Amino acid sequence: MTSPNPRPFTYIHERLTCSGADLTDLAERFGTPLYVYSADAVIDRTAMLQAAFAPLPHTLCYAVKANSSLAILKLLAAQGCGFDIVSGGELERVRRAAPNALPHVVFSGVGKQLWEIDAALHADILLFNVESEAELELLSQRAQARNKIARIALRVNPDVFAETHPYISTGLREHKFGIAIERARDVYRRAAALPGIDPAGVSVHIGSQIRSVEPFAESLQRVRSLVEDLRSDGLNIRFVDGGGGFGIEYGTAAFDPAASVSAYASALCRILDGLGAHLLLEPGRFLVAQAGALLTRVLYTKQNGTKHFVITDAAMNDLIRPALYQAHHEILPVIATDRPAQVADIVGPVCETGDFFARDRTLPELLSGDLAALLDAGAYGMSLASHYNTRTHPAEVLIEAGDARLIRRRETLDDLLATELT
Ligand code: LLP
Repeated sequence: MTSPNPRPFTYIHERLTCSGADLTDLAERFGTPLYVYSADAVIDRTAMLQAAFAPLPHTLCYAVKANSSLAILKLLAAQGCGFDIVSGGELERVRRAAPNALPHVVFSGVGKQLWEIDAALHADILLFNVESEAELELLSQRAQARNKIARIALRVNPDVFAETHPYISTGLREHKFGIAIERARDVYRRAAALPGIDPAGVSVHIGSQIRSVEPFAESLQRVRSLVEDLRSDGLNIRFVDGGGGFGIEYGTAAFDPAASVSAYASALCRILDGLGAHLLLEPGRFLVAQAGALLTRVLYTKQNGTKHFVITDAAMNDLIRPALYQAHHEILPVIATDRPAQVADIVGPVCETGDFFARDRTLPELLSGDLAALLDAGAYGMSLASHYNTRTHPAEVLIEAGDARLIRRRETLDDLLATELT
């Protein structure tokens, strides 16, 4: 039995398509580099996760940072998602894209600023995930000043090792995140005594792109014991925020998202069974990564010594994951070809050796003018784009029922330079 294709990108008559839309046509209509997302793929993933967690009362608070484009947020809100935000800027995105979702927002992050706390109090968000005692004090003052009660969870650091890239692992004591779980009970006692603070939940997030269930299970087990202790201390803990971090397969290995998510969900549901808490989850990557690709055109090819280079019009400023985390992204030619395979580095025009999408990758020969798709770019692609080398941001299109809708127009140099003064 072949496993289902976890991506909406398939060849139809040798031409790569996204949920029925022809990528060659899209490149001609909208130019390149171009982010292309399938709405159906996002909807499917969301439904998959919701179905898997159906045994528990739960809310998916989509991690806005994964892909913060307004149309994506609106799409997720329409599927019943709340949001996990980490800044006042992300709060503003939710306000503009999905104001009805504001009561389902959780606010994470180690460095919340005063204006961000004020804006979130004003918006009556669901929960502040507090990461330090100093933040707790400030939140209490601001809530009092505004006559509000801030529901909080302490983000506890469970000291669990999650096997992932060191830059995106967060659940060890040496990381900057959260409050050590052994100290949490004391801090909750203080929180309970502070005016304007309602200790309503416990939260945890151990990292990102985690492929096994065990680290999630281990940390949730610790969270459950803490919730029981806190309740015995008289606190009314109603929420468990399990964070995000559930990973995907970036390579060609078989990956059945429904099966893997059901293993994750059944472990968590088992651990939280009978606790009577409302589960919040903060998935980002799992919902959007595989729904998107970055479409790019080959500018030049060249040979330097023994190395063959394919130079594309997309660069590390458009998709930084390979440069930053040595991340692997599959690359497909947009027109299937029987040209011979070739080992090449796929690189962008930016003046850094780190500006590569793939090194020593075997691909059918790519020639100047060809289009290629960098897969699994729906998460941490556009949201991490920069203007490095004074390159404008790519445009974005969303495929809905086979039709492409521009959801971000291509930036102009005037847009890019608009904030600068000479
Ligand atoms: N909640 C919190 C508190 C987080 O810090 C994150 C991600 C998430 C949820 C969502 O995690 P996800 O479900 O997407 O794994 N730029 C990196 C990933 C950074 C993740 C940061 N925090 C990458 O491209 O792999």
